[in-house]
Amino acid sequence: MTQYTVAVLGATGLVGQKILEILEERNFPVKMLKPLASGKSAGKTISFQGHSYPVQEATPESFEGVDLVLASAGASVSEKLVPEAVKRGAVVVDNTSFFRLNDSVPLVVAGVNDEDLSWHQGIIANPNCSTAQLMPVFKKLHELGGLKRVIVSTYQSASGAGKKGMEELCDSTKAMVSSNFQDPGENKVFQRPLSFNLVPQIDKFLDDGYTKEEFKVIAETRKILHLPDLKITATAVRVPVLVGHSEAVTIDFDRPVSPEQAIAALKTVPEVVVSETPEAFPTPRDAEGIDPVLVGRIRRDTSNPETGLNLWIVADNLRIGAALNAVKIAEQLDKQGLIQSKSKFAEHV
Ligand SMILES: NC(=O)c1ccc[n+]([C@@H]2O[C@H](COP(=O)([O-])OP(=O)(O)OC[C@H]3O[C@@H](n4cnc5c(N)ncnc54)[C@H](OP(=O)(O)O)[C@@H]3O)[C@@H](O)[C@H]2O)c1
Repeated sequence: MTQYTVAVLGATGLVGQKILEILEERNFPVKMLKPLASGKSAGKTISFQGHSYPVQEATPESFEGVDLVLASAGASVSEKLVPEAVKRGAVVVDNTSFFRLNDSVPLVVAGVNDEDLSWHQGIIANPNCSTAQLMPVFKKLHELGGLKRVIVSTYQSASGAGKKGMEELCDSTKAMVSSNFQDPGENKVFQRPLSFNLVPQIDKFLDDGYTKEEFKVIAETRKILHLPDLKITATAVRVPVLVGHSEAVTIDFDRPVSPEQAIAALKTVPEVVVSETPEAFPTPRDAEGIDPVLVGRIRRDTSNPETGLNLWIVADNLRIGAALNAVKIAEQLDKQGLIQSKSKFAEHV
């Protein structure tokens, strides 16, 4: 079995920490680990597979001798450092948004479009967390009835905004409780105080009134499913939940699909667990810390009973939406012999 020198860029962040946990959990063949973060984390140590590794400040030179990089340090860091890693012969699985819609970079959800890994040129992008959890469900339902039009409403947890997002929700909740629900404290990460509230803005606003997060769900879904003309719209909302994104989805199909047919089809998808009765609906708490995407409340859209269904889709945003998908992609790359590229892609960068 080939063993790899693996750099985790963003190793001290929420996603980076999960990547380390999942690499260990799934016994990924790591020969040597390089945990990388910002200068302020240099000197911290990370324990992995019984060894202690020092966290280093990420620089272009950090990637010398690295085979595989799992990157989650933000888009601007990936913009700068991912090409440096590829130049030095590493293959990069990038969790940030920076390369996702680049035509020369495959955007992959493991188990959904693994075939796209074959044309990578050193970089593979991981989708946005709210897109990733929809993909195994959408792929199967498209095979069943043909997706004609999709409406997505998201209920996204604070951890989707990183460790500072989680901290702000906790601090704001404490401030509210200690002030008899008068003072939510300061909000820096979210556009409004998130405790006891909802915020219908994730990422910045675009000229058409959508947010960038909503645009990501739309554009990334089309790219992953190879459905460039799919009619899909989204509203993305931040909710006061720590971990786990939930999404209410309405689908109009090309052909009639009953709830029973959808349930039977989704039960065949290894990444999905379906609740068959309305009362057995999944919540973000059910999804936290587990691998599958949980689907419930599958019912006819009574405004479109022949070809319309409503669904409720929940998953751990840090796992399926980021770290688990990144590690599964790395496993696929290993299996298909696509990591041993040393310098093959350097000329493209
Ligand atoms: N959270 C999610 O659900 C999720 C899902 C999918 C994708 N993503 C993407 O993954 C990325 C990270 O998310 P996160 O939630 O893990 O954020 P996070 O908790 O804020 O962690 C950010 C990580 O990036 C490191 N970092 C920051 N600036 C850096 C720099 N200049 N050079 C090197 N490292 C730097 C941080 O190191 P320090 O600790 O030293 O500051 C930390 O390790 C983002 O691009 C995000 O969009 C997140």
